[in-house]
Amino acid sequence: MTRRLRFPLLGAMVGGAVAAVSCGDPENMLSPAGSAARRIAHLGWFVLLTFSVVTIVMWGLVFWLAARRRGTLAHHLPWNAPEDRRWIVIGGFAIPVLVLGTIFVVMLKSMAAFPMGDDEMHATAAEVRVIGHQWWWEVQYPAVRAQDTIVTANEIHIPAGRPIDIELRSSDVIHSFWVPRLHGKVDLFPGQVVNRIRVEADAPGRYYGQCSEYCGPQHAHMLLLVSADRPADYQAWLDRQRAPAAAPGQAFAERGREVFMTGQCALCHSIRGTEAQGKVGPDLTHIGSRAGIASNSLRNDTASLAAWVTHAQSLKPSAIMPNITAFTGEDLRALVAYLQGLK
Ligand code: CUA
Repeated sequence: MTRRLRFPLLGAMVGGAVAAVSCGDPENMLSPAGSAARRIAHLGWFVLLTFSVVTIVMWGLVFWLAARRRGTLAHHLPWNAPEDRRWIVIGGFAIPVLVLGTIFVVMLKSMAAFPMGDDEMHATAAEVRVIGHQWWWEVQYPAVRAQDTIVTANEIHIPAGRPIDIELRSSDVIHSFWVPRLHGKVDLFPGQVVNRIRVEADAPGRYYGQCSEYCGPQHAHMLLLVSADRPADYQAWLDRQRAPAAAPGQAFAERGREVFMTGQCALCHSIRGTEAQGKVGPDLTHIGSRAGIASNSLRNDTASLAAWVTHAQSLKPSAIMPNITAFTGEDLRALVAYLQGLK
């Protein structure tokens, strides 16, 4: 590579890295929006700074050695220059132990600051329960009375400025919960293992997450939205979600309800307050209120809903949702209108 090309390329790489850090990418762990993520970001910067200093000092020594021009590099190799063995002891052992030891201690201190499934945490019930499925997130808000429990999918609401404990489990394989601007990665395990994290968002906003443990062909389409709401909005959201599904307001949506209940949909999906009690796919009681569908891999709009019902296997091959080809144009439009009305 010529020198003329090398420097613009280096510039573009550094520029790209700086832009990625600073332009507010919604999933950027280096722009933390909560206490746990802030600690992780600080740790990241500390490690980067330390290794930058090590790199600069090392290259400085190499250039210094070259500038001395005393013999060739071979003269300075330890087996040729017994008096230089102290470089091995100091540079090759003592300094790395000091640097890596310091990073290790700082890292342990950061980890200790996360309440992650300790006794104090298990003494209280978690406010939110997340269950990983291939390939979507079930979200529950447990309540004392079973009928008050909220079941939703792929979207978690939390009040901004207040820590929320989230319990993590899996129904099938190992998944990993990662909302980079709010917290580090924590795995969801099948069986009896229950992990917990405490998530807090500084300010209202939308924070996107992604399953970060490979869990099958649609792992990349397992996205999650955490909406941090103002406390009053959060309470209003809880109240709306707790209520059973609204009855269709118009005759067209009523036709959609008929299509849903008599077709295949009700066999796999639940809509509280109706005869649909399927437990295979996500609860759809308030699907109209969600930002996305198909685990946030599609926007929740008319075209995406219709496409998802009829062509799920093209959009997300191997997902448990089949292609429902039985619905004709008018029935499909009515079904979508009904789902959109479930706010
Ligand atoms: Cu779930 Cu990867």
